[in-house]
Amino acid sequence: MTATGGVTIVTGASSGLGAGMAGELARRGYPLALFARRTDRLGALSVELTAQTGTDVRADALDVTDHDAIFARFRDAAEQRGGLARVVVNAGIGKGARIGSGRFAANRDTLATNVIGALAQMEAAMEIFYQQGAGHLVLMSSVTSGRGLPGPMNAYAAGKAAVTRLADGIRLDVAQKGVPITVTSLHPGYIESEMQDRTGRRHRLLVDADTGARALVDAIERGRNTECVPRWPWTGYRQLVNHAPRQLLTRIL
Ligand SMILES: NC(=O)c1ccc[n+]([C@@H]2O[C@H](COP(=O)([O-])OP(=O)(O)OC[C@H]3O[C@@H](n4cnc5c(N)ncnc54)[C@H](OP(=O)(O)O)[C@@H]3O)[C@@H](O)[C@H]2O)c1
Repeated sequence: MTATGGVTIVTGASSGLGAGMAGELARRGYPLALFARRTDRLGALSVELTAQTGTDVRADALDVTDHDAIFARFRDAAEQRGGLARVVVNAGIGKGARIGSGRFAANRDTLATNVIGALAQMEAAMEIFYQQGAGHLVLMSSVTSGRGLPGPMNAYAAGKAAVTRLADGIRLDVAQKGVPITVTSLHPGYIESEMQDRTGRRHRLLVDADTGARALVDAIERGRNTECVPRWPWTGYRQLVNHAPRQLLTRIL
């Protein structure tokens, strides 16, 4: 499914997967509105992509924990850019801590950004898509979303599970209403990014940033309900994480 008419929003586009998807989407000719908090990086990226690709790429500041700002920015983008073709709900953090370790704030912040921030983006996008009678909502979940996970991954994985379930519910709403809105949950495996760098370890299956970005945008264009990205090896890996016995689980994460 390709987006027709209007702008594609990517949140969390100042680094990592968001910046990579922005580059790939711009090269494929989709007009973009990029959002994040680090406007210096975002501004430089939008200038670079517009110059390189000739695609209209614009950038603006947005903190996804500022919910009113999300609704305002999404409405402005739709009004100023001929409608809203697609929203990629990508902004996220991964700074969880083992529950009971005295770092409640880390888990609270992870869920505030990755779940409530994502919910606000879903609400803002879907309101506009319903008015338009079309649109494509893309949610960045994770291969870790299918199971409760230990230690610092607990709140993060639970948050991604919530995002996946919210997407499933929206898809049912849309089907009941018979509106041609597509809802895609992407489950990336480990892809090179600042979030991955901050873990301080390199997963043996880590995918490089360019390969990851291309695979993500290929999956976005296919517009399926749900996909692991890249499909190989992460479709199998997700099954393994979902069903592995506890002793094996900690070794493969
Ligand atoms: N990399 C992976 O292997 C992987 C795997 C599965 C899922 N994911 C998901 O992919 C998404 C992107 O992650 P990444 O790996 O690319 O990490 P990253 O390089 O750290 O990028 C995170 C992006 O989110 C933005 N962000 C964070 N908090 C924000 C806030 N409050 N408001 C607005 N923007 C915010 C950051 O921009 P500012 O700091 O400038 O605001 C940055 O652009 C996340 O949802 C992550 O959970 C990543």
